[in-house]
Amino acid sequence: MDGESGAAIRVYEDGPLIVRGDFEIQTQDGTTIDPGRSTVALCRCGKSAIKPFCDGRHTVAGFRAPGGKIRGPASAG
Ligand code: FES
Repeated sequence: MDGESGAAIRVYEDGPLIVRGDFEIQTQDGTTIDPGRSTVALCRCGKSAIKPFCDGRHTVAGFRAPGGKIRGPASAG
C-alpha cells in the first residue's frame, strides 16, 4: 500500500482477486462479513465453495483469465 490508507486489489492471472489494506466486505443486504484477516482472496472463477472467498478450486476448474484488464473500465450506473 506504500503508506497510503485504503485498499488495493490485485488481479491474479488464472486466479482470484487479492485484496489488501483497509476494507470491508458486505453481503448484498449490507451485513458485514468478517474476513478474519487483512489480506483476502476473492473468487472470480465462480467455483469456490466458500464464496466470496477463493478456496483454490480455480486451479482444478482450469480457470483462465489474464492478470490485467480485458476491456475498458465498467461504467457506473
Ligand atoms: S478464484 Fe479461486 S476458487 Fe474461484
